[in-house]
Amino acid sequence: MYQVGKPVTGKNFFGREKEIELLTTYLKMGQSVVLVAPRRFGKTSLVMEVLNRMKEDDHYTAFIDVFTNPTLELLSSAITEEVLKNHKLHKQFIAAKNSASAMISNIKMKAVLDDFQFIIGFTENNKDEWELISESIDFVDTFTAKHHARIICAYDEFGDLNKFDPKGDLVKLFRSKIQQHQNSTYIFSGSYESVMQNMFVNSKSPFYRLARIMHLGYMENEPLKKHLLSGFKQLKLKVTEGFIDAIIQQTMAHPYYAQLAFQQAVLFNAIKSRLPDIDELMSQMTAAETDYLEKVWEDISNNREYVYTLRAIAENGKNVYSRLKSKNINIARASKKLQGMGILFKSEKNGYYISDPLLKRWINRNL
Ligand SMILES: Nc1ncnc2c1ncn2[C@@H]1O[C@H](COP(=O)(O)OP(=O)(O)O)[C@@H](O)[C@H]1O
Ligand SMILES: [Mg+2]
Repeated sequence: MYQVGKPVTGKNFFGREKEIELLTTYLKMGQSVVLVAPRRFGKTSLVMEVLNRMKEDDHYTAFIDVFTNPTLELLSSAITEEVLKNHKLHKQFIAAKNSASAMISNIKMKAVLDDFQFIIGFTENNKDEWELISESIDFVDTFTAKHHARIICAYDEFGDLNKFDPKGDLVKLFRSKIQQHQNSTYIFSGSYESVMQNMFVNSKSPFYRLARIMHLGYMENEPLKKHLLSGFKQLKLKVTEGFIDAIIQQTMAHPYYAQLAFQQAVLFNAIKSRLPDIDELMSQMTAAETDYLEKVWEDISNNREYVYTLRAIAENGKNVYSRLKSKNINIARASKKLQGMGILFKSEKNGYYISDPLLKRWINRNL
């Protein structure tokens, strides 16, 4: 499989051993965790992998992607489906969802539920969305309790809850319910650093102290190197270790770009009957990602401060303050905001840098 972009599981998943260890240890203690990283750092893949392992450890599991559910009713349904999946009843639930009589006559489903009325609620014409979501949130815990199990429930792109109500009532509802749950442990993952911080880290935030925060960074070099070497070898493509090292260095061991590098190198070889050198490869990758990079840039470039700050940092992370002095820009504020968006990372030694290696390259070449 050389597809890049979708979350990876099973055989296609590699590395992240330390993160898996930490995450599963927390979860087994019953400690909920917040997982934060920019887009494409492998959050969803990691969460799915961990859920699979917890399933093998006899836990119930549920995976809910908040981002892909546009309405509260669909989100409620997704939660309920995922919970029922643990008893392989999700298909029956989906099939009966539009008919009260079908639902009522479903004996198997009835047998495993305490509160059947709640499930009937999905079939009603005038559904109360808030009631549905409210009961679905609790269903995770009540269903699990009834069956004397423990559940690991993951809400992916959790920050996206804000789209349903900017006032934050829904987030408060989640909090007030989840903190009572005795049989459920949660993973909340999200890509917008500042949104997740606001939800979990500020002392005034609704989820303050409810979950341990974990930041997911680049991959470790060694497992990545092994993976790339064996990938090329399987295709009988001769590569030097230097070439692999260059890929890792240029992509900063960013999981998505490392995988893309492999895919694009294979593609290059198919067309030109030879492997690219590292510059050719990086150019081809940047070309393949143009739409994405332009979109990212479009989202930030309406702010003059961001533009100057990013251009300066892309060029060189050092002495940004003095280099931009004449521009009359509040770099500290811009950097902080960009960090909150996951676009900048900060290191003790070198200060701010752009988290996406291709975005950095693209800014330097195009602007
Ligand atoms: N552990 C991993 N092993 C292999 N590939 C990975 C891994 N983590 C991420 N990737 C690559 O990165 C891409 C994005 O991963 P994904 O889990 O969707 O990230 P996120 O949820 O943070 O946006 C995947 O399509 C895959 O190519
Ligand atoms: Mg994801």
